[in-house]
Amino acid sequence: MIASMRSALAGLFLAGVLALLAGAASAESIRYDTSSRAFELKAGSVSYVFGVNERGELQALHWGGRLSDRDALPPANVGRDRSSFEPTTNLVMQEYPGWGAAFYGEPALKVTFPDGNRDLVLRYVSHTIDGQQLRVQLKDISREVHVELRYEIDPASGILGRSARIQNRTRTALNVEHAAAAAWSLPAAEDYRLYSLSGRWAGEWQLDEAKLTPRATVLESRRGMTGHQNNPWFALARDASTEESGPVWFGALAWSGSYRITVEQDALARVRVTGGYNPFDFSYRLQPGGALETPVFYAGYTEGGLGEASRLLHRFQVDRILPRVANSPSGPRLRPVLYNSWEATQFDVNEPGQSRLAEMAAKIGVERFVMDDGWFGARNSDQAGLGDWTVNPKKFPNGLRPLIDKVKSQGMDFGLWVEPEMVNPDSDLYRRHPQWVLNFPGRPRTEARNQLVLNLARTDVRDYIFNVLDRLLTENDIAFLKWDANRNFSEPGWSGQRVEEQQKIYVAYVENFYWILRRLRESHPQVEIESCSGGGGRVDLGVLQFTDQVWPSDNTDPFDRLSIQDGFSHAYAPAVMMAWVTDSPNWLNQRSTSLEYRFLSSMQGSLGIGANLTHWKEEDFEVAGRLIREYKNIRQTVQRGKLYRLISPRQGSPHSATQSVAQDGHQAVLFAFLHSGTRGSPHPRIQLRGLDPEARYRTRIVAGKVQQGTPEEASGAYWMSRGIDPDMKGDFQATSIVFDRIEAAH
Ligand code: DGJ
Repeated sequence: MIASMRSALAGLFLAGVLALLAGAASAESIRYDTSSRAFELKAGSVSYVFGVNERGELQALHWGGRLSDRDALPPANVGRDRSSFEPTTNLVMQEYPGWGAAFYGEPALKVTFPDGNRDLVLRYVSHTIDGQQLRVQLKDISREVHVELRYEIDPASGILGRSARIQNRTRTALNVEHAAAAAWSLPAAEDYRLYSLSGRWAGEWQLDEAKLTPRATVLESRRGMTGHQNNPWFALARDASTEESGPVWFGALAWSGSYRITVEQDALARVRVTGGYNPFDFSYRLQPGGALETPVFYAGYTEGGLGEASRLLHRFQVDRILPRVANSPSGPRLRPVLYNSWEATQFDVNEPGQSRLAEMAAKIGVERFVMDDGWFGARNSDQAGLGDWTVNPKKFPNGLRPLIDKVKSQGMDFGLWVEPEMVNPDSDLYRRHPQWVLNFPGRPRTEARNQLVLNLARTDVRDYIFNVLDRLLTENDIAFLKWDANRNFSEPGWSGQRVEEQQKIYVAYVENFYWILRRLRESHPQVEIESCSGGGGRVDLGVLQFTDQVWPSDNTDPFDRLSIQDGFSHAYAPAVMMAWVTDSPNWLNQRSTSLEYRFLSSMQGSLGIGANLTHWKEEDFEVAGRLIREYKNIRQTVQRGKLYRLISPRQGSPHSATQSVAQDGHQAVLFAFLHSGTRGSPHPRIQLRGLDPEARYRTRIVAGKVQQGTPEEASGAYWMSRGIDPDMKGDFQATSIVFDRIEAAH
């Protein structure tokens, strides 16, 4: 015992020397103040400060507005017990608290040692600063459990990325039961409001708002996948904060599996957000020498309200998260206008039918034709064929080639739907490999949509799926995959794995899912991918590292989509938000809307068409052709611009409006919607945001009307201060106006 304490002290001394050396070499955006033993990460208008206190704990000190370089960083301080019920071990806001000593909050790390010890107390050992990355080494007070905390800050947005690597350097295996990526501490206050995104299949992305009180709120998935119910995103604002002003702390976890984000306020009004792997049914066995890496938890701060929080996140995703394709190394490509066959044909796909749709889609300016479910194996319904990824010879007697050639001859590229993780029991694959699915031996296998989940954690399954997709992409000229997953885990047993290792499944499955995506992109650098899980069931910053776009919801009703898209936009960029124009009445709720209304709703994101074009009249093709041409003129602004949610469709408002401003300011696009006009009430005047007050802008009406007397051209100051009055009456009306900046004559 004494010997191990001595070695821990020697370690601390060495750490101090290393830290002194590192302190001399602090990078511009990361500094270490050797006198106060505090670190600062700084970018944009954000400073994030933490330090080493006299007990050696890593203590959070400030996360908020930018500090001046002339100020010394505040020192960490253990302080005093408040009472016997509030010892300092619980009062110190630790950066990464182990569950040990007297600590009652949500731990970042909890382990069980084989001798029954469950006490883990982490102390600072050393750190390194390497360009934009800070790494801090922590270690338990007596046992060789080491944790490396990694910090990065994005210079443009001030968004921090944090993760941890937990290493077992003891001589015996131990079990990790909680492993968070990060714990974020906010300034103590009693007026926080928590925003989160929740929903269900066909009703995703509803923005919830709740006052924080002394309790823990849990946002989580226990489903093995991200899920529709809660998205791994949060925002915390103060009472006085609004859409456009006031402090907001926000974050998103980059993980596509079971996760937990715990938002706690304690009795002293201190607030902490801890997020990472979901500890439910989690027990990660770490062998001696083994390590567990957590996902990255990204978080940011702004004083510009919820609107600026989402604009920062959007920019960060485009600049730092989304994949680059081979022919666009400087940034993600703009999303092409796509057609998808699902709502038109369901499983009833075949070469003549799809070719006909392709011809019609090309006529209106579609750039990518995607054939959805039904093209393979015995897939005539959702009852059979899933897992058998060979082209159905009755539907496509000459393979996919003739259809792909047809699509390409019409000037479009070709995309294909796949659902690689799943299998119908009525399939050749399942008959060959019944042990490849998640299951507990001798127990029932719960089916959902008549399918079971292949255990991607198994290397043979992972390799099989990669090889099937690799062959598909090698043998066919495919530009795009829509990767679907229509159910979540059940009976998550892992046959062939040692019992004590089986609960690693929650990590291994997702890592192998990412492995397949990464390798596919490396082997086929031109191919783009969409993440879909029965709609928005797998949207997160983890999957977005490997996918170019996501399917937010199977709900394609254009009015429902307004609130779905409003919620979505709080966390994710319009560039990745696919939105199809489908048939009216809508399949889900039988609501009837005009084609123009459907288009304007979808044009707020990445535009797609999902209607049965064989039912369209000549004038529908004309409207669609015109609006797709308009969309191509504004898509850079919509997909990459700064989004302002001017009027939210939430809380039963009959109106909604969004505005996008191009990053270079040359254009702004307004979309305004009226749900249902009542008692002759006029549309509220819309004051634009984010324009240059001195510049002049000329308007172009894409659809709808504005009130008589509206000037065609005016200054940014006019549009922002006086505003514009859309002229809408009735139900489900929409207006869109483009504001083009007039370049000053030279
Ligand atoms: C669910 C998806 O969300 C739909 O768009 C469609 O691809 C079906 N699966 C196909 O089975």
